[in-house]
Amino acid sequence: MNKIKWQPDSWKSKEAKHLPKYEDENHLNDVLNQISQFPPLVFAGEVRNLESQLADVSNGKAFLLQGGDCAESFSEFNPNNIRDSFKVILQMAIVLTFGASCPVVKIGRMAGQFAKPRSQDKEIVNNIELESYKGDIINDIKFDSILRKPNPERLIKAYNQSASTLNLLRAFSQGGFANLNKIHQWNLSYIKDSSSKQKFQEIAKRIDECLVFMEACGINDKNVRQMSETDFYTSHEALLLPYEQALTRIDSTTGNWYDVSAHMLWVGDRTRQLNGAHVEFLRGIGNPIGIKVGPTTKIDELLEIIDFINPKNKPGRITLICRMGADKIASKLPKIISSVEKSGKVVVWACDPMHGNTIKASNGFKTRALSNLISEIEQFFQIHKAEGSYPGGIHLEMTGQNVTECIGGVQELTEKDLSSRYHTYCDPRLNASQALELSFLLSDYLKEKKIGLKKSSNK
Ligand code: PEP
Ligand code: CO
Repeated sequence: MNKIKWQPDSWKSKEAKHLPKYEDENHLNDVLNQISQFPPLVFAGEVRNLESQLADVSNGKAFLLQGGDCAESFSEFNPNNIRDSFKVILQMAIVLTFGASCPVVKIGRMAGQFAKPRSQDKEIVNNIELESYKGDIINDIKFDSILRKPNPERLIKAYNQSASTLNLLRAFSQGGFANLNKIHQWNLSYIKDSSSKQKFQEIAKRIDECLVFMEACGINDKNVRQMSETDFYTSHEALLLPYEQALTRIDSTTGNWYDVSAHMLWVGDRTRQLNGAHVEFLRGIGNPIGIKVGPTTKIDELLEIIDFINPKNKPGRITLICRMGADKIASKLPKIISSVEKSGKVVVWACDPMHGNTIKASNGFKTRALSNLISEIEQFFQIHKAEGSYPGGIHLEMTGQNVTECIGGVQELTEKDLSSRYHTYCDPRLNASQALELSFLLSDYLKEKKIGLKKSSNK
């Protein structure tokens, strides 16, 4: 492999897949110069806290819950959407923390998840060929010859939207909304599945009893920060490298480089080539890095990528986000797990049950069946049990809204329901009810896993 000295722009000497071509380079450079002067969205200290919490996950002491939109959009940007997504992630985390007695590391696919790799570079409608929609940070979803052109101004809009989303998320997580004493006030009216609703209310009641007991012992939200606040981190796919580079800075306390656009960045299944630009960029930044691992993954290359990004084998630095598909996971994942574990590389194993299970409904909608997602999750846990490794996390595309994009679940959404509230700009997301339903299932798997799954030998 061709190893060069890392610089924020050293990725430019490698092949970069899925990057848009801008017509006016000067315009792009102007915008990038502006962004490089903008304040950081996250701080290096927070990023290091996340790394240490992920190190706990890799050690079997915590569970990672990562979720949010497939693609954030400019038009769905409003405080209610942010609040509702945050709330569902928090509710899922409560179910997992309480149900499985396991600390949960919460990361949103939020405040920066704007760029999408597309399998087809172009889209043809009525014999007109235009560039595919590549996410709001690049071009417009409207099929219009001007709006589909990559426009550098969109980078600034995406930065600003990320900043205000993050501002609200910080307010929610630290300003009282996440206080455990408020758990009953987290509105469940959008949850259509009455059994999840009832189960959640039961947990809330039991937490209340614990809080009363703890208060009697002198422990309360005034003297224990964790009872009134929560840590909530942000993440997105580091696809649009010019944008990521403009937000890559040296941390003055350590002298290390961090990408300050989000706490965690991941590389997609289509851009994770060992010799590619995206891996080159990610290896130089101090943020925790996710690597999507799909069914075409070559194990030797994956091991080299892990080494390249994490040569010191630092716990918490690498999360392997496995997205095989319910029909492939059994034949692909065991060998990957055993090879990585045998090599002694410390990673977080997360399951993305979304991206290997996308199907086209008979009425043309892209959808995902909850039964397939559940099957992949179930197999993920079983395989880890058989391999003696720790199933450390879940990666979901979901929203707090009552959309109809994935089929199945207790609500029994069918293909016919898809057209009613299909709002996604890219892949189909779980609605709040389906997401909560999954969290109860996960909590059951995790409880069962408390069986001392983890081999203590190699970590
Ligand atoms: C995604 O996470 O939205 C995505 C495109 O995933 P993948 O790279 O795994 O296909
Ligand atoms: Co997606």
